[in-house]
Amino acid sequence: MTTATTGVTPITGAVGTAHTRVEGRAKVTGAARYAGEIPFAELAHGWLALSTVSRGRILSVETGPVLAMPGVLTVLHHGNAPRLDTDYIGMLGVPPDPTAAVFQNDRVPHAGWPVALVVAETPEQAREAAEALVVTYEREPHDIELTAGRPDAHPVDGHMPGMTEKGDIEAELAASAHVVDEEYTTPEEHHAMMEPHAATALWDGGRLEVVDSNQGTTWVADELTRMFSLDPSAVRVRSEHIGGGFGSKGVRAHQVSAVMAATVLQRPVRVVLTRRQMFSLTGYRSPTAQRVRLGAGTDGRLRALDHRSVNQTSTVWEFVEPSAGVARVMYDADAHRTSNEVVRLDVPSPTWMRGPGEAPGSFALEAALDELAERCGIDPIELRLRNEPERGPVSGLPFAGRNLAACFREGARRFGWAGRDPRPGTRREGRWLLGTGTAAASFPAGALPSTASVTAEADGTHTVRIAAADIGTGARTALTLVAADALGVATDRVRVRIGDSDFGPAGIAGGSMGTRSWAWAITAAARELRDRLVPGGTIPPEGVTVRSDTTAALGALAQKERHSFGAQFAEVAVDVTTGEVRVRRMLGIFAAGRIVNPLTARGQLVGGMTWGISMALHEEAVRDRASGGLYGPDLAGYHVAGHADVPEIEADWVDDPDPEDPVGIKGIGEVGIVGAAAAVANAVWHATGVRHRNLPIRPDRVLRAQGGARV
Ligand code: MOS
Repeated sequence: MTTATTGVTPITGAVGTAHTRVEGRAKVTGAARYAGEIPFAELAHGWLALSTVSRGRILSVETGPVLAMPGVLTVLHHGNAPRLDTDYIGMLGVPPDPTAAVFQNDRVPHAGWPVALVVAETPEQAREAAEALVVTYEREPHDIELTAGRPDAHPVDGHMPGMTEKGDIEAELAASAHVVDEEYTTPEEHHAMMEPHAATALWDGGRLEVVDSNQGTTWVADELTRMFSLDPSAVRVRSEHIGGGFGSKGVRAHQVSAVMAATVLQRPVRVVLTRRQMFSLTGYRSPTAQRVRLGAGTDGRLRALDHRSVNQTSTVWEFVEPSAGVARVMYDADAHRTSNEVVRLDVPSPTWMRGPGEAPGSFALEAALDELAERCGIDPIELRLRNEPERGPVSGLPFAGRNLAACFREGARRFGWAGRDPRPGTRREGRWLLGTGTAAASFPAGALPSTASVTAEADGTHTVRIAAADIGTGARTALTLVAADALGVATDRVRVRIGDSDFGPAGIAGGSMGTRSWAWAITAAARELRDRLVPGGTIPPEGVTVRSDTTAALGALAQKERHSFGAQFAEVAVDVTTGEVRVRRMLGIFAAGRIVNPLTARGQLVGGMTWGISMALHEEAVRDRASGGLYGPDLAGYHVAGHADVPEIEADWVDDPDPEDPVGIKGIGEVGIVGAAAAVANAVWHATGVRHRNLPIRPDRVLRAQGGARV
């Protein structure tokens, strides 16, 4: 064994330099294992049986014939499953989504609700038995229809207040030279990440171990601990590689039912969801109906801003898609009103999905701004610059950096915005009408308390341990660069281990806060470790370890509005005889804190913008009024943008370090989707002269609109 000598000249500069994924080779060679494929001895397989009615009561679960089928070990349902606790405040400081607490009563709240888990020796036996299981229901009429005018819509506080209001909206609208008053809708959208949800649960020496695909191992461990009333030290959740999450990979029916079955059978049980099951079990983005009213003087300065959003939720849980929240950050007005309201329907519980609130909210608000620019005869970028607020329009707090104007200036220069003819429907190239559009983006830049440990090993390398989750973002690689700089060593001297709740509490890969939260904890531990090592000293065989906890340090973020910002640009071509819309190019310039790894950061931003194209033109889950379920709940029926739909997309950034963050990070996970759909829709208007206020902008909508129909 070689013995390291400490105190050499520190190496820095890893942060900000492009670095391929540290686990890239493992992923492309298949060596990286995902939750559903890790082998276990004595593994049994569970298959969920889902309700075929949209509302009602379970009268009977005919387990007898199924228990006699080959390989079947047990059938869990509301009559025999362990009882769960859902009356608690979890790690994220909010009550749990009780949707995951399966088999607790005989109510059926929506189509595709889990009514039983059939466990067998093989997945095939479990599936066959689950499909043969006869469940009888008392059916009740269901209500699945979200409309803007529903009298039962009510404001709900989610992670932000349901309503904000200042000034007299009606008076300011009446006094405005230009008014926009329009309704915008966005459809039900699904995460559709590549890797389906999968979990294996087992009891090992008195500890529950769950091998899972999730966005936070300590988060899932905390929720399972509380639901099953276990001792926190008795639960370990691991999740090493994750094929996408987008907000959907928290605690869900598959982990909970696997833990139930492992407890009952006292052997490892795996539950994997099918793509179709995911459409009713793993959350989705609620459709929204939004009304935006803007009033401005002749100079384009906003006198009135009213943004009201209504989303659907289930009868099990009130989930708010806070679409009006974006208006609380972007623009001020003499009278300013926002509300996020929900309607409870007999549908699955929606959940966070990439840019929750901001993604659909920015479509409505940024499209309305474009309409106002048209009415005022002011360039859309100039209109936004004239309405740049000094402080948070609702909070009144100063911004910790608001570089939106810099994004627009750089974006306009690179996109070639100057000299743009604002008139719509005037550029033609063969069968195509051409147009360009822009929109602003913002997303909160927060951080969650995290702990990390950093060990100086005797061989001169360093091991970082943190319960981080790399859901495909490149977080593991970013953290390697951050740790290397904080330690003053080369990146190949740093090993970052993540995805294990035994590493201690850490924030989730969510809210664009993952890398920022974890980098903070790693930096704190690494700096202390460097200070502690005696220059020229030797490291003992067991290494030297320092632990950090950022809970107290995060107080530095209070008292300011913190957001990433961006300017989105799109050019589209529209064939009004076929209704086809093609995005020809996109550019996004972001002010999103210090960029740790330009390679994976660009992937995040371009990925978000690609979601924006998909949201603008393709994605839409449609519910059948008769059955209450979805038409075509699979990736054939649910259309996401494919390679052929995605043109050259360029993403870049302006210098924007967060002064209060030890690394300067803000967060880049979600800001890329914000405003992207609006930029496309605004470009479609510029091409055709028709405003599309309902997403997606399908060919039939383009055709009907050209015929003069309201779409
Ligand atoms: Mo993201 S919707 O915060 O996982």
